[in-house]
Amino acid sequence: MASVSSFSNAIPILAFLVLLLLGSTSAQLSPNFYSKSCPNLLATVKPVVQSAVNREARMGASIVRLFFHDCFVNGCDGSVLLDDTSSFTGEKNAAPNRNSARGFEVIDSIKSAVERACPGVVSCADILAIAARDSTVILGGPTWNVKLGRRDARTASQAAANNSIPPPTSNLNQLTSRFNALGLSTRDLVALSGSHTIGQARCTNFRARVYNETNIDSSFAQTRRTPNCPSTSGSGDNNLAPLDLQTPIKFDNNYFKNLINRRGLLHSDQVLFNGGSTDSIVRTYSSNPSTFASDFVAGMIKMGDISPLTGSQGEIRKNCRRIN
Ligand code: HEM
Ligand SMILES: *[C@@H]1O[C@H](CO)[C@@H](O)[C@H](O)[C@H]1NC(C)=O
Ligand SMILES: *[C@@H]1O[C@H](CO)[C@@H](O)[C@H](O)[C@H]1NC(C)=O
Repeated sequence: MASVSSFSNAIPILAFLVLLLLGSTSAQLSPNFYSKSCPNLLATVKPVVQSAVNREARMGASIVRLFFHDCFVNGCDGSVLLDDTSSFTGEKNAAPNRNSARGFEVIDSIKSAVERACPGVVSCADILAIAARDSTVILGGPTWNVKLGRRDARTASQAAANNSIPPPTSNLNQLTSRFNALGLSTRDLVALSGSHTIGQARCTNFRARVYNETNIDSSFAQTRRTPNCPSTSGSGDNNLAPLDLQTPIKFDNNYFKNLINRRGLLHSDQVLFNGGSTDSIVRTYSSNPSTFASDFVAGMIKMGDISPLTGSQGEIRKNCRRIN
């Protein structure tokens, strides 16, 4: 009897050890990472994000995108934040970022506030992860506990940024294979693309779609053409249009309703609802905002887990724009 009961006591302990082993192969990130070393971290970040979004609502979208562009290029390691210098080429002028990625000054302001509170403790990569969550919440989206403990890269790669972030000309296979390669499912792809419910895109990224594609609502296409986005490449390339035509500063599920009405702005948006395998996920999110919200949260947490630097890897940058 005694041995039977001690055996059954051992089962949860064994299960725990197995989980510990499995867990140690992925990141050791945790929401409590700074609870002793920087207890007021979250309260320090949020008001800086809030005031930036108050000044310009789109900034919330720009920060969410920066986090994506960080995580997809060699993991969430703050590499996207590094400036180019005469002897160093970072990622800011890579094809997906040049004339496009923004929000760096906001990250600088947050970093300054955090350095005043807890000098030398919190990574830029973690600051970006928290700011992306806060931006989502401030624009009306769901919240989650941000896992922390990432460290900052001492390198960056323009070539990796060119190759790792999918272009808006991607087809569904290209998108799913890129996401799958990073451990993100097809469902994560659709849920995370839902962040195109906020923010803006430049004419150069939707010109071919609004002039030449057929799976597009014709009055929507017309609205997005001239004068704002002339057909000739080179003219008006940087002119902006909202990714979600109804509520571009509200994090809701209108993006999916638009896709069903063939009003996706980017080619890579509309491929998610074009008679293929992801149509049913788009329908689910369009009619069920809470399913979208919980899948989006799950996707953001998974994306935030991509190849972090931890332990003694990398560094805690003093200034997010340069290595120490
Ligand atoms: C699925 C593949 C994706 C593609 C091909 C893609 C492509 C793009 C493009 C081309 C733009 C407009 C950039 C410009 O014209 O300057 C954009 C904007 C944006 N993207 Fe994505 N994106 C993808 C996934 C994501 C993900 C996963 C997120 C975040 C979780 C995201 C968040 C955003 C946001 C918030 C904006 C608006 C940024 C602003 O207004 O500054 N995107 N995306
Ligand atoms: C990345 O893409 C940009 C823009 O197309 C190009 O100018 C640059 O040379 C590319 N960088 C690398 C390292 O391939
Ligand atoms: C539309 O397609 C035609 C034919 O392939 C091409 O010549 C033209 O440049 C395209 N226009 C845009 C705006 O992409």
